[in-house]
Amino acid sequence: MLAAITREVSPSIAKCELTHLVREAIDVRNARLQHRQYERCLADLGCRIHRLPVEASLPDSVFVEDTAVVVNELAVIMRPGAESRRAEAASVAEALAGYRQLYHIESPGTMDGGDVLRVGKVLYVGLLSRSNPAGIEQLRSYVSAYDYGVEMVEMEGCLHLKSAVTQVRRGTLLVNRAWVDVSAFEGMELVDVAPSESMGANALLIGETVVYPKAYPETRRRLEERGIEVVVVDVSEMAKAEGGVTCCSLIFDV
Ligand code: GLY
Repeated sequence: MLAAITREVSPSIAKCELTHLVREAIDVRNARLQHRQYERCLADLGCRIHRLPVEASLPDSVFVEDTAVVVNELAVIMRPGAESRRAEAASVAEALAGYRQLYHIESPGTMDGGDVLRVGKVLYVGLLSRSNPAGIEQLRSYVSAYDYGVEMVEMEGCLHLKSAVTQVRRGTLLVNRAWVDVSAFEGMELVDVAPSESMGANALLIGETVVYPKAYPETRRRLEERGIEVVVVDVSEMAKAEGGVTCCSLIFDV
């Protein structure tokens, strides 16, 4: 059984952090409708939804992925790189305490869960604006006892590692090579995003199915041509806040 922690879209999402995007109006009502459809899709794929209460004063709080890294044996609560996001972690920690033993990234460490890509027993961590070497060392100290490797990955031009690379099947990654050094992923099959869809590398793998944004049809075709099953969701309002399909949930075995 899988659980998916999610959180209702904040009414203040229009004040979200933006790093690479120009601010556009976000329709909160539409964002909430899209978010409900996203949750329904996760539930259809076998996730029990654990929705956290709305955080009206935390604009980015729908992006729960950034607040924790959860593996089978433990959960590490993040200290997000953006100061405006740090208060998001407390309520996620409270919820995760019911499922896992908790560890915490502490100052001077910073890390966003969006920078952590788990592939089997390896946690790849993107080092750019949100996650720093101190955070990476703390993560390593917590997970190494359970035989997880932690690999630092060079990236540029995007917000999070998972903006640039995600897993879409066992042994297969979807990548935007302009943003990430793929030499870290030697031996894995790499599927490139379509040239016109630079934001298309963020996909959410649940079981054998990829949850994927409607906005990137060419890249979606590349996945389907390789026999990967894709279900499409419209997350266009969350995309204006620089969030994707992985960002809106924390999914783990229960
Ligand atoms: N708006 C998402 C983030 O910057 O973390």
